[in-house]
Order: sequence, then C-alpha cells, then structure tokens
Amino acid sequence: MKFSSVLAGAALAGSAIAAELDPIVIKGQKFFHEKSGEEFFMRGVAYQQEIQSGGGTTNGKNQYRDPLANPEACKRDVPLLKELKTNTIRVYAINPKEDHKECMDLLTEAGIYVVADLSEPDTSINRDDPKWDDDLYMRYTSVIDTLAPFTNTLGFFAGNEVSNNKTNTNASAFVKAAVRDMKAYIKQKNYRPIGVGYATNDDAEIREDMQDYFNCNSKEESVDFWGYNIYSWCGDSSYKESGYDVVVREFSKYSVPVFFAEYGCNNIRPRKFTEVGALYGPQMTPVVSGGIVYMYFEEANKYGLVDLKGEEVSPNPDFKNLKEQMEKVKPKGIKFDEYKSENKELQPCPSNPKAWKASKTLPPTPNKELCGCMVKSLSCRAKKSIADKELGEKFGTVCGLDKDVCQGISADAEKGVYGAYSMCNPREKLSFAYDAYYQKQAEAGNGEMACDFDGDAERQESEEATGTCSDLMKQAGPKGTGQVTSVPSGSGGAGSGSGNSPSSGAAYPTTIPAFNFGAVKLGAYLVCGVMAGAGIILL
Ligand SMILES: *[C@@H]1O[C@H](CO)[C@@H](O)[C@H](O)[C@H]1NC(C)=O
Ligand SMILES: *[C@@H]1O[C@H](CO)[C@@H](O)[C@H](O)[C@H]1NC(C)=O
Repeated sequence: MKFSSVLAGAALAGSAIAAELDPIVIKGQKFFHEKSGEEFFMRGVAYQQEIQSGGGTTNGKNQYRDPLANPEACKRDVPLLKELKTNTIRVYAINPKEDHKECMDLLTEAGIYVVADLSEPDTSINRDDPKWDDDLYMRYTSVIDTLAPFTNTLGFFAGNEVSNNKTNTNASAFVKAAVRDMKAYIKQKNYRPIGVGYATNDDAEIREDMQDYFNCNSKEESVDFWGYNIYSWCGDSSYKESGYDVVVREFSKYSVPVFFAEYGCNNIRPRKFTEVGALYGPQMTPVVSGGIVYMYFEEANKYGLVDLKGEEVSPNPDFKNLKEQMEKVKPKGIKFDEYKSENKELQPCPSNPKAWKASKTLPPTPNKELCGCMVKSLSCRAKKSIADKELGEKFGTVCGLDKDVCQGISADAEKGVYGAYSMCNPREKLSFAYDAYYQKQAEAGNGEMACDFDGDAERQESEEATGTCSDLMKQAGPKGTGQVTSVPSGSGGAGSGSGNSPSSGAAYPTTIPAFNFGAVKLGAYLVCGVMAGAGIILL
C-alpha cells in the first residue's frame, strides 16, 4: 500500500513537471502566444535525420527515423537547441505508432514548439503522380491525432515542395485538398486551433502562382500559414542582394503568417548566418515571422549544425556562428490586442493557364466508407492476387478499352474534373473500372467473358446499398461522376482508423490514363483479344 501511494505521488509529480506551453495562435499575418498575447517569432531548426525532403519518387523502401521517438537523442539535443535560442523545431516524418511523450515533454520544458510535416517518404503526395486518397488521408489524420494533444504543437505542413517547377503545378490541387481536409478534421475532432500550411520551394517561375493558389477562393480550403524554403542569402549577402526585400514586398498584403520553412545557403562554408540579423530585424519582422534553419544534423548534403558520431554530437563552426547571430537579435513584436490585421483579402487564384495547371476546383475528400460501399455493390472486381505494383498497368488496359468506364475514378486537376471514386485506393478503383466495363458489356449481351481481364477480374455477389451506403452512392451517381458532399466521419474516413498502417500500395505510381491515349496501344491489343473471345460466343 505504502509503496503504491509513493509511486502514485511520483507519477503526479512527474506530470506536474511537464509544464504546458502557452499555445501559439494566429491572428491575421502574425503568430501570438495565446495567453500572454506576445507576438511569436519562430527561431527554428529542422530536426530530422536521413530524410529526403520533397514529394519526389519513392521506391517503396524509404526508411525514416522518427525524431520525436528517441528520448535519449532528445535529452542530448534539446540543451544544444536551447543554446541556439531555438523555440521551434521542424520534424519531417513522425511515426504515429511510436510514443512521443518524453521528447515532447523535454521540448515543452525547454520552451520549444513543433511544426510537423504530415507525410512520410512513402506516403506523401507525389508530384509526378499526384493524388489525395484514403491512404494519405489516414496517414495525415493519424499524425494530427498523435501531436494535437500537446500544447507545444504549433502547426502542420500538408506538403513540402511538392510542385517544384512549371511541369508539375497540377500536383498542388491535391496538396490544397489535403489542407482543406486537415483543417476540417481538426475542427471536427474539436482539437484546439492548430494551423495547417505548406512549405514551398523558391522557383521563380511558379513562386507567385503558388502563394496565390494556396490562399485563394475560400478561407476553408486555404493555408493557415505559408512556409518558404529559401536559400538565396549566401555568405555575406544583403537584404537586397538576397532578394529578401522582394519577399517582404510580395507578402506585405498576404493574409496569413509567412516564415522561412527552411533557410541557410551553404555555398560558402562555414556558414556565417548573417541573414539572421535581417530576418529578425525591423525591415522583415512586420511581414515575416522568423524561420527555420536547415538543419541540425550534418549529413552528406553538408547542412548540419552538429556532427553525429555514434550517439555523440559535437557542435561544428556553423553552430557557433548561428549561436552568435541568434544571441544578437531581438525581434520587436506587437501585442495581440494592439494588432489590427488589415490584410483580410485572399489572393486572386492564378489565371494564366499556360503557367499554372491546377484548377481552383479541388479533388474530393477521401472517404473510405464510400469506397467500401462501392466495392460491395460491384458484380465484378479486381482479384486480390494482383500485386500492388502491378495495379498501375492494369488501369492502362481497362481504361484503354473504354475510357468511359474510368470517368468515375479519373482525376484531371487542370480541368478540375474528378470522379467521385478518384480518391479510393488503387485496387478499389480498378474494381470499379472492371465492373463498369463488365456492366456495359453485359447490357450489350456480351457479359459472359467481360469480367476476366486475363484472369485479373472475378465475379462477386453484388450487395445492394442501404442506409448510408445508399446515400453516399446516390451522390456519387452510377458512373461516379457526381459530387459527394458528405464528409467522412473519422480518421481514414470510417470510424477511427488511426494507427492502422497505410497500405504499401500507396508507393507505386497508379496514374489512371483515362484521357491519356498513350494507353491506347495496349488497349487496342486487348480489344482484339476480347473481340476474339466475343466472336467465339457469337458463333
Ligand atoms: C521539374 O522537376 C522535376 C522533378 O524534380 C524534374 O525531374 C524536372 O527536370 C524539372 N523540370 C524543369 C523544367 O525544371
Ligand atoms: C498532371 O500533369 C501531368 C503532366 O502534364 C499529367 O501527366 C497528369 O495526368 C496530370 N495529373 C492529374 C491528376 O491531373
């Protein structure tokens, strides 16, 4: 008895030590401490080992290490971060299945907030094959579920440098849909207001369209803050030479906070970090809320502040230089109550269709429940034996045979036309297309052989949709070309799916070439095959 009450006392003391941080809130173009009303300037450091930043291609084998799930490393690194006057770290990939309490408590005690990317290398919006689907929805919401309860969680990035030049701007439609849905999710779950933003690269050709697109059309779907990855101040540059003056000009009328989501050019090493004086000085603080130095760990790309050998870290010259600069600056802010946010207008959506190929009409919200209902209703479906990585080419076959049957699963971000089932996972989508093809053939009296596809498709007993299923599917329409307005009821779109691991299928490109006649060759070949089969029946 005595022993256990001592333990209970210790546990209580433990939870009392883990003080809460004054949450960060957004008003107009600025961040504030909620309780004290002081303006918040981000003094950030990117904190993540071995991670590719960017939504590029993945090979299905990318490993990442959750930087908030290693208490020993946090104990080692938090004091060094404090030495740099860090008040924010950016983490690029956390694992919702790990325990983050110890690291988050250590950070809290040190006054350090966290801004977290919602993706991980294998489950991220891929600029070359963009989608916003059930798997991504589940991954994103599970990260939010994991971090939202901590008072030092400052915000989330729905993407990092996904569209990175004029060839892949259409991917931004999917990232913006993610912003829209994660903002809605935070509200729906009654978490405290935590911002959802985006971190952009610095491509002169698309930069302005990017910042307009993500903050246009409606507040509900626009970013809560804008992160700018910028490496234009190298060595002893200046406010003008670096183009920082242009940034200030471009964003002076922006309606949400802007900060540098990554900075620290390393063309000239060691880095002197003379940009710190400008960033936290009077020319920039009215418009830019600080920034995040890229990055803590020294790796092959030579951006580190510390060298890691085994489990030991040692600060390098960059660390010393950054520390010196950080000690010198004293950004002057304004109080919450005194600040009148004047920039209430959203930006105009980009209007030059040559330069910008993402419609302001966004892809649908992933809805696992709807996808499940749809699959149950089918009479013909894709076999489970098809490997994830083979799914992509199978679309080529069926959509090439009859592009009409793929309308319900296709997405055209440039036109802003999305099938209601375009957000389902690849196997569900393939089943939809197989069934649509089968139904059409059956109507024409050719049903016999039409649910086959070289043995990839099989018949199943179709279940009639009732209740919610029936409502959802009515909205989607028989061809999947309708618009579903019901929102998913929880993580992953059905019940609480959080913690489930996203399917590995997400890693493979599964572009549906419904309107892409590159697939026709393959399709034509198969038409002959099917026709031959049909011919036999007719005889
Ligand atoms: C655009 O970005 C992609 C992906 O990073 C790259 O492969 C491509 O070469 C770039 N194209 C141009 C025109 O810069
Ligand atoms: C995005 O653009 C690329 C390149 O033009 C195209 O191949 C792809 O189908 C487009 N994706 C969507 C979803 O619109």
